[in-house]
Amino acid sequence: MRLSDATVKIIFDSRRQETLTAELFSENFSACASIPSGKSRSSFEAFVLAPHRAVEIFNKEVKSELLSKDFLFQEDFDNFLIKLDGTNNKSRLGGNLILSLSLAFARLKAKAEGLELFDYINKLYRGSLHYLPPSFIPKPIFNVINGGAHAKNKLEFQEFQIIPQHSSFKDGFEAARKFYKELGENLNKEFGKEEISLGDEGGYSTPFRSNDEAFQELKQISSKFFWRTGSFSFHLSCDAAANSFFIKSENKYKINEEKFSPEELYLYHEHLIHKYSLIALEDPFCENAFSDFSKINKQKGVYIIADDLTSTNPSRLKMAINSASADALIIKPNQIGSLSETLEVARLAHKSGWQLIVSHRSGETEDDFIADLAVGLSAWGIKAGAPATPERLSKYHRLLEIEKIISRL
Ligand code: PGA
Repeated sequence: MRLSDATVKIIFDSRRQETLTAELFSENFSACASIPSGKSRSSFEAFVLAPHRAVEIFNKEVKSELLSKDFLFQEDFDNFLIKLDGTNNKSRLGGNLILSLSLAFARLKAKAEGLELFDYINKLYRGSLHYLPPSFIPKPIFNVINGGAHAKNKLEFQEFQIIPQHSSFKDGFEAARKFYKELGENLNKEFGKEEISLGDEGGYSTPFRSNDEAFQELKQISSKFFWRTGSFSFHLSCDAAANSFFIKSENKYKINEEKFSPEELYLYHEHLIHKYSLIALEDPFCENAFSDFSKINKQKGVYIIADDLTSTNPSRLKMAINSASADALIIKPNQIGSLSETLEVARLAHKSGWQLIVSHRSGETEDDFIADLAVGLSAWGIKAGAPATPERLSKYHRLLEIEKIISRL
């Protein structure tokens, strides 16, 4: 496919920070993609180039190269940019610039092939020979209480989540919206309106005194739903994002002014997993704690999810697979910086029997690419924040649309 034009511009994300949006044109179609940004980033993520510098480099060096070539496949396009960058962590062109072009190219190619984006991704992921049309929507993991780096409160854990158990996405989404509303009303009564705000991912931020208190609140509402409907409608889960409360010099974690050794933190997690019947726990330890992850991964009945540990990076993932550090993987395309490499990581995890969870970032745009990515990968779950605020809702609205399309197939 030949491109007839290409632009990269600056827009603002949900934290009102500058980010990139790319638009590619072929003879008959055009397609855009914009890039989110993380706050609780690991040390192994692709380099993020300052947006102004990225636009400059694009106009000076990249654009004419792209317009002079014919790219048959996604991999050709992505590999061309990776080679042009020529560094290990995409520090010359920026992971953000390369990814914006890579995702826009995927949308353009899907249009040219007359495919839904999730179908296009699914074909790339499986290869045409093993093609199986996507038949389900991944479980939405709604982050309804925010802490850690995403909120100004005392909670060390970053995300307190609910996962609806409904068989259709539409019903689960509806139930999550009701849950979220009821949670807001309860918090209003307990803390007063002026004490409540929203964190970066649209979950509530309030002066809870401990992680336990936040889980307690979710458990109470979840039980009310149980009494009303007669079935367990929600599982609880959590992203501890332990990097953000790890004190490297002491090899200790700080929770509620108390310092925990890795062994003590293990016991703390164990207590929470059992008390609140957690179905998943993400980043229970810091980004290099492969063996602490392996120990907690022996717990039955709970998915241990790796994010900062693996950083959507094949070599980090291989280390985690070899040490059996987790059994579920967060997929964040901007941690690695191109669609083709994201798919490579997903394939590797899938082959090793891990579950996949496609994730947004805390600074988001209204781009809904990850909804199609999650469906195209037949992921177990998708993390896109609270069922509120436009940049989170855009992903859920696209999933509603996809559910309708799939049900007609
Ligand atoms: P981050 O967190 O984008 O700030 O790194 C995202 C997440 O894990 O949900």
